Amino acid sequence: MEKLLGFLPPMGWNSWNTFTWEISDKLIMEIADAMVETGLKDAGYEYVVIDDCWSEKQRDENGCLVPDHYKFPGGIEPVAEYVHSKGLKFGIYSCAGTHTCAGHPGSFEHEFKDAETFAKWGVDYLKYDYCYKPLQVPGEILYKRMSTALRNCGRDILFSACNWGNDNVYKWIRESGAHMFRSTGDIQDSWQSIKNLALSQMGNECYGGNFCHNDIDMLVVGMNGSSNNEYINGSGDDQFANKDGKGLGGCTDIEYKTHFALWAIMNSPLIIGCDIRKMSPCAKEILTNKDIIAINQDIECRGPYRISQWNNPENIFSLVKPLANGDFAIGMFNFGDANAEMSLQLWDIGLSAAAGVGVEMYDCHKHEVEGQYFERYVTTIAPHDCRMFRAKVIKK
Ligand code: GLA
Repeated sequence: MEKLLGFLPPMGWNSWNTFTWEISDKLIMEIADAMVETGLKDAGYEYVVIDDCWSEKQRDENGCLVPDHYKFPGGIEPVAEYVHSKGLKFGIYSCAGTHTCAGHPGSFEHEFKDAETFAKWGVDYLKYDYCYKPLQVPGEILYKRMSTALRNCGRDILFSACNWGNDNVYKWIRESGAHMFRSTGDIQDSWQSIKNLALSQMGNECYGGNFCHNDIDMLVVGMNGSSNNEYINGSGDDQFANKDGKGLGGCTDIEYKTHFALWAIMNSPLIIGCDIRKMSPCAKEILTNKDIIAINQDIECRGPYRISQWNNPENIFSLVKPLANGDFAIGMFNFGDANAEMSLQLWDIGLSAAAGVGVEMYDCHKHEVEGQYFERYVTTIAPHDCRMFRAKVIKK
């Protein structure tokens, strides 16, 4: 089947989390190489996206965006071509306001011209931000406008809206034509941030779905405090700032594992933010886990529901997502700071032990069947850790 644009949560890489303004044609081409060499492409990652700071501060005399002469001396086209030559897709960034968040020209009142420029350059994906939006213009109309421009520019361009969950975006984003929408503020490379962003979207599952995915923000898996940006490294976040006020940055491998499992089961686009040229073996294992990616890429795109543990409902809970073949994806999470025993009552996911119906639990991290269970499944989970299963319904 021909792949339909935006049907499933997009997967790829974006320059912002690690590199912010320090981007160049060389970096993007090396990232494209690494996507292939590390096996990320084979795992399903497809888009290589340049975020903010790629353009000059002024448009040219015809009102066209101009690539930064130092960072992209040959322009954007050859970079897109190189990315395409690796069998990958190429993405770029603009903004619904007059300026991007970093102060470069935004696409306000230039939507149709910019869409044409992007199509000419070979762009396949546009991230569209929300800074410097004229206050009297509703964001809704600006996303509808750019969506219309992209849908009629002569090239398939995936539209990634980024208004941070403002202005009741859930109510109008699907009808705008956007393929994904950022529902959160910017992620930081800290456990606190991962936790906050995930919790903020529990209860919003009904708004995502095929062709319009709830984007909880780009992944920080594997960054280990390596962003060139102190905010992303977690400074300003008291809990993570050290004595000098500088962010400690980074998470443990267990926290990155839980981060990836959360984003996957919550159907977020999976957009990597670390420097994949120097990924640790552990980061690579997390990001290429085919059983977890399959849960994220399930064709029906149903959001999960939450079942909280009765004796610690804030911190200990399961997310349960029905899959197209009748299985369930079950993520069991411990957001607390102590070991937790956790019991999932199978009655809560629609099974009846009296009818002899139970589950066979396949562990998506160990890649093996753990066993068959009726009535309930019990496990102990370390602080900030998770277990992720594919559960097949069985009869006694
Ligand atoms: C906003 C977005 C980020 C990133 C920056 C770039 O903060 O939310 O994801 O694109 O702008 O300036």
